[in-house]
Amino acid sequence: MEQFIRLKNGYKMPKIGLGTFNLKKEETKDIVLEALKLGYRHIETAPIYLNEQEIGDAIKTSEIDRYDLFITSKIPPHIKNYESTIKVARKTMENLKVDYLDALLINNPVPWGKEDEDFSKENLEVWRALETLYDEEVVGAIGVSNFDINDLEKLLPFVRIKPHINQLGIFVGHTMDPLRAYCEKNDIVIQGHSPLARGRIFQLNELQECAMKHEMSSAQIAIRYVLDKNVYPIVKASTINHLKENLVLNMSMPEGWTNILDQIHQDVRDYKPPYAKRIL
Ligand SMILES: NC(=O)c1ccc[n+]([C@@H]2O[C@H](COP(=O)([O-])OP(=O)(O)OC[C@H]3O[C@@H](n4cnc5c(N)ncnc54)[C@H](OP(=O)(O)O)[C@@H]3O)[C@@H](O)[C@H]2O)c1
Repeated sequence: MEQFIRLKNGYKMPKIGLGTFNLKKEETKDIVLEALKLGYRHIETAPIYLNEQEIGDAIKTSEIDRYDLFITSKIPPHIKNYESTIKVARKTMENLKVDYLDALLINNPVPWGKEDEDFSKENLEVWRALETLYDEEVVGAIGVSNFDINDLEKLLPFVRIKPHINQLGIFVGHTMDPLRAYCEKNDIVIQGHSPLARGRIFQLNELQECAMKHEMSSAQIAIRYVLDKNVYPIVKASTINHLKENLVLNMSMPEGWTNILDQIHQDVRDYKPPYAKRIL
């Protein structure tokens, strides 16, 4: 299976990415390096994960050509003005020891804890900064994360460059069909964060049953399931076995199981992401 998809500006993005949230500082370099050795070419991060320098060290040590890598980062939720956005983006590049990012996203439509407020005007400011960075060719693609239809409608008509990406928490039982259809209609590619619902996906009996019958792991089914919906997963893993297991591009979804999993409508997360109130 093809390893990449193309964003609407022609930019190539690897279909599976490594998520780095919750990777401890001291383990990040080794895990990212292992992932790169195994063939991962998309690393997803954010300044608030506090491990950019270690990711940068891993990239440098790997000696992989920068052009063969795809690095996504995100502007923190509380940054909602032009100057700070430019500053944070440049600091991220410095920390990662790279001179461009492949994708830069607005992490969230509102700062954490301000879910009832409207930051659409401020998001346009942040967006203007992303457009500047895109024009300067220090960012290959620009996008958003956790933006619902309402948030996108307050952005799309007013911007010069439309988002290439929306990164959303999508997993079995929580597929956000109307939002996915809206993104597809607007040529916005979806990166899927938390495809394993941070480990909670394994409690779904149907997933276990499918895995047992078809010699795949539950994680593989869960990742394959979102890929088949054109959601490009960002998976966090911190063991070599998990890293290996999650590379499912050469596997297919066992016949008939997509329909079965489509019947599940249950958000298995027990943690409440700060954006949940707006986007669930
Ligand atoms: N934009 C946003 O607001 C946002 C929000 C959340 C996450 N993200 C991004 O998306 C990435 C992934 O999401 P996530 O970290 O929330 O959760 P996730 O990728 O759904 O799940 C990670 C958990 O699954 C486990 N795991 C991974 N592979 C496994 C396998 N093959 N078998 C069994 N367990 C496995 C990991 O354990 P081990 O560590 O032990 O391998 C970890 O506990 C994050 O790291 C971050 O980069 C973005």
